[in-house]
Amino acid sequence: MIAGGKCTRNAVPSVCYDLWMEDRYVKIAKVSDFDGVRYRKYKLLARNVAIFRDPDGSMYATEISCKHQNWDLTTGRFDGDIVTCPRHHWVYNVRTGDCLTHESTRLRRYGLKVEGEDVYITLLPIEEN
Ligand code: FES
Repeated sequence: MIAGGKCTRNAVPSVCYDLWMEDRYVKIAKVSDFDGVRYRKYKLLARNVAIFRDPDGSMYATEISCKHQNWDLTTGRFDGDIVTCPRHHWVYNVRTGDCLTHESTRLRRYGLKVEGEDVYITLLPIEEN
């Protein structure tokens, strides 16, 4: 779809811009920032995103605002990858983004890559609702 920075799709410019942005990674953290912590929160283009690191070192990035009324899910109760929003108890899998309470919605996930000590995530989610 994007060739040489130009959209080859017959789409309106904002759609092309979104597609172009989707592939863009920004350096957001260091791997060592996660020593002793499971996740850290970031603000990315006005969205609340958390980067999680599992004990095996694997990492992933997920929107962390509840889809019901935008409550910060990191204030919820975690059971592994499952978090329960403290406000009205919607339940999510933060690894997959799935909402286990309402199948019609899900948390946005972001692309993540690690290069050496640097952690990068995509500016835009890799999938939209
Ligand atoms: S704000 Fe999360 S369930 Fe209502």
